[in-house]
Amino acid sequence: MRILVIGSGGREHTIVWKLAQSPRVRAILCAPGNAGIGQIARNVPVQVSDFAAITDLVRRERMDFVVVGPEAPLAAGLVDHLHAEGIGVLGPTRMAAQLESSKVFTKDFMTRHKVPTAHYATYPDPKPAIAFLESSEAEYPIVVKADGLAAGKGVVVARDLREASDAVQRIMIEKEFGGSGDRLIIEECLTGVEASYIVFTDGDTIIPAVAARDHKAVFDNDAGPNTGGMGAYSTDDILGPDLERNVMKQVIRPVIDGMKSEGCPFQGILYAGLMLTSRGVQVLEFNVRMGDPECQVILPRLKSDFAGLCEALCHGRLKDYKAEWNNEAAVCVVLASGGYPGPYAKGKAITGLKMAEENRRVAVFHAGTRLEEDKFLTDGGRVLGVTATEKDLPSAIMLAYEAVNKIHFDGMHYRRDIGAKGLASAAQTSL
Ligand code: AMP
Ligand code: GLY
Repeated sequence: MRILVIGSGGREHTIVWKLAQSPRVRAILCAPGNAGIGQIARNVPVQVSDFAAITDLVRRERMDFVVVGPEAPLAAGLVDHLHAEGIGVLGPTRMAAQLESSKVFTKDFMTRHKVPTAHYATYPDPKPAIAFLESSEAEYPIVVKADGLAAGKGVVVARDLREASDAVQRIMIEKEFGGSGDRLIIEECLTGVEASYIVFTDGDTIIPAVAARDHKAVFDNDAGPNTGGMGAYSTDDILGPDLERNVMKQVIRPVIDGMKSEGCPFQGILYAGLMLTSRGVQVLEFNVRMGDPECQVILPRLKSDFAGLCEALCHGRLKDYKAEWNNEAAVCVVLASGGYPGPYAKGKAITGLKMAEENRRVAVFHAGTRLEEDKFLTDGGRVLGVTATEKDLPSAIMLAYEAVNKIHFDGMHYRRDIGAKGLASAAQTSL
């Protein structure tokens, strides 16, 4: 098989790394890729938004199919474009990608299909939104969300009226996220523990991945602003069999069947961001791709052939594929540039990468890195994801941080509590 992967982050490095383990894969190309991906696949300097260049590349290099990593090209219709060219691709069409690219579409869709989610209202103008926030009906904390894509930054959990109106101001009036702020949602604030549940689907058959838990806030104990994700872990008891059955029945199945019945079948990877609350599972959001860093703890637990899974998905033959996962624990600690998620410097030399990977149970996935004269330099906010897989969570946490301690770059910062929530698993089991 010859496979083209689209994207350049830690998620795409993990996808390429896993595909490279398949004996059936002869070539992997990545557009545009990053320095880590370049060690195991061929990076091609083609941007994810350049659909014509991607098509040319597929034809020129006789690729069998394309795996799309990030949301932006999906929301912009890359899959529709490739389908029209007769090229196999793993990912949803532009219409189906609305499950991530429009929160208004998704909340209304969930209402139509009785998928449990927070109570909400949609506002096309700032004035009525502020009027609601000032009214006695508004209960704080409250959540304000931009309708469209905002790189994980379009959601504000506001503690009081001032923070909430500030969010409306930034999203709708200052247009911090451009057209994504043409409409906004104000919704009830849910409390509980979060979980990321990701499935592979060809529109009929659904193959679940093992569940994971992201750590979105920048500092320990979930303090500070949200980021793209500062780390993740995956163990079997994040959901457990009963809860998983509920999620499949109340969330995943109704969504896949609902999309089909509305003439918008979903093919690809569906990610449900869940809140496990005292009134049951509630959906916070959907993404139409692998999570990042969740991908970095999910794929290391896949025992079966990932290239075979992708191939079966692209050809609508998922029912013939049997996925097997190990029952180990995986932990990924993200190493970020000083200042991230705010402004940060680039071009800092990274040392210790080889040493960190000496243990074969550790993998270092690159996100924002570049190679200059054989040296790895920082080149983004999230720089590396250090993943360890072990028989249980405490050992995986220990091994991940041992590896982290071997890596250095100026300004490097990371959370020291990745996976700690899973150690208090008694609390989760009781949910
Ligand atoms: P989203 O992009 O919609 O997943 O939101 C990003 C983060 O905001 C989530 O991971 C939650 O931590 C938080 N969040 C979103 N919606 C809610 C809600 N209704 N109640 C509480 N927290 C929320
Ligand atoms: N880790 C959250 C996301 O990928 O959206």
